[in-house]
This record gives sequence, structure tokens and C-alpha cells, in this order.
Amino acid sequence: MIKKCLFPAAGYGTRFLPATKSMPKEMMPIVNKPLIEYGVDEAIQAGINAMCIVTGRGKYSLMDHFDKNYELEHQIRGTNKEALLEDIRATIYAASFTYIRQKEMCGLGHAILTGQELVGDDAFSVVLADDLCINQEQGVLAQMVTLYKQFRCSIVAVEEVPENETHKYGVISGQEIKHDLFRVDNMVEKPELGTAPSNLAIIGRYILTPDIFEILEHTVPGKNGEIQITDALLKQAKDGCVLAHKFKGKRFDCGSVEGFIEATNYCYENIYLTSDAPNQSHTTVKY
Ligand code: G1P
Repeated sequence: MIKKCLFPAAGYGTRFLPATKSMPKEMMPIVNKPLIEYGVDEAIQAGINAMCIVTGRGKYSLMDHFDKNYELEHQIRGTNKEALLEDIRATIYAASFTYIRQKEMCGLGHAILTGQELVGDDAFSVVLADDLCINQEQGVLAQMVTLYKQFRCSIVAVEEVPENETHKYGVISGQEIKHDLFRVDNMVEKPELGTAPSNLAIIGRYILTPDIFEILEHTVPGKNGEIQITDALLKQAKDGCVLAHKFKGKRFDCGSVEGFIEATNYCYENIYLTSDAPNQSHTTVKY
């Protein structure tokens, strides 16, 4: 079954400079929780317990986050602040965290290939933490794991986007084999305006079968001179089967300032205000 989740997390997050000058973009908080922690929790909810993180220079706080902080714990022991650490403690105990550094940044396909040593020979999942996905009942990754159990092939998550935005994504086309599930016959990384094969855009959730690594090794740089996972997946789609799942839930593009603000507002109203954590001075504004 799917036991590992790969997090490509070596990017610079230049759109958020200067905030990301010395802080990894994955550590930017949506309300009171770093972006990557939402992704890790989504993976845990999908029954995945090994987090494999592809990092780069200056990402130490990411590793520290998924580790105990004895000094802090000592300081707040016995106070009402202690409960604020409960969620992250549970996350740390529910999973293992391993890291590898990406030496050069040559695209998402290259980042995934870098993670091969951590992932090994089994099918695995990939989460791009920038894409924050929220679905109260069943997370997007859990939806995909359920499908993987049935179909045993690579799966990408897709959503419909306006036609004038398709150039920002990998875009698929395919045949709908059952409700919201497509067998992919074409996929293009960031197509030029007006040339997209459909309006079904890939968002940052993947399940990949391990043969993807060999394909990636032979994938030549594509869009923007980078090794694209979309190109490797197209090869898999032509030779066998790749599915695209139109997921249930909300997705926020936290790689953009607008998406980040939207996610913040949504999580503040729907998660933070409704949680029982103490020391949140929201009780009077709860609605
Ligand atoms: C990457 C993928 C792209 C996908 C997108 C989802 O692009 O290359 O196919 O649609 O993630 O967020 P990036 O946003 O890293 O440029």
C-alpha cells in the first residue's frame, strides 16, 4: 500500500520575498500552522506514515519543526499554552521524517527523482505543500489512495480552472471512465494560452508507481528547461495507465499571495475559530 509521501520542498518561494529570505516558504503559516504541516496531516489521514522531504539550503527550521523542542516544552509545561503543541506532537509521533538535499533545482521531475533514495521501490504519493487542500470528510490524498487500491496505477489530482489560467498548470485530457475519474490520454505542462487540451489542471497531489523513476532518468528537460513530472507521466500514460481524479474539496494556491490570503481567511473561519485549542482570544468573535 501507499506508505510514503514525498514533499518537494527545495524551492525559494521568491513570490513571498522578503518573508522567504531566510525562512522556507513551506514554513509560512496559514493562521497558526505552517503550510507543510497541513500536507503532512493530510498524508497521515490517508494512512501514510513515512514523510520523505526533499530540501535545499537554509531549510533547517523545517527539520526542527518536526522534532521536539525540549526547551520550549520545559518552559510551557503546566501552563495553558501546552495544549497548543498537542497537534504537532501527535503529528511527530504518527510519522517518520527523512530528508535529502536537492543539489540543483532542475524542476519538479528532478526533485522527485532526488527523492528516489528515500522512497525506494514502492508506489508513493507526492504532496506539493503550496497547494493547500481541505476536505473535512476525506482528504484529497485519502481519496486518491482509495482509488489506487482499486486501479494500481499512477494518479494525478485535477480540478477545472478557467481557460485563461491553464497556462499555469500541467493540463490533462482523457476519457471519463467513471464519475470524476479520467483515463489520461494527453497531458501538457503549462500549455501556451489557447492550446490546452482541456481545462482540467493538475494540482499538487500525485500517486506514482515506482517505474516513474526510470522514466524520469530519461526525461529530457521540457517547459522552462526543467525536467517535468508531467512529461514523465505522459510516457506512463501512453505505455499503460495514468488516471486523473477530479477531487472533492477546496484547494488554495498558496504559492500566490492571493491564494495564500484566501487560504488564511478560510482556515481562520473554518478551522481556527471552530477548534477547541485554548489561549485563542477569539471566543468573543466566534460566529
Ligand atoms: C507544478 C507542476 C504542474 C502542476 C502544478 C500544481 O508546477 O509542474 O504540472 O499543475 O505544480 O501546483 P509549479 O506550480 O511548481 O510551477
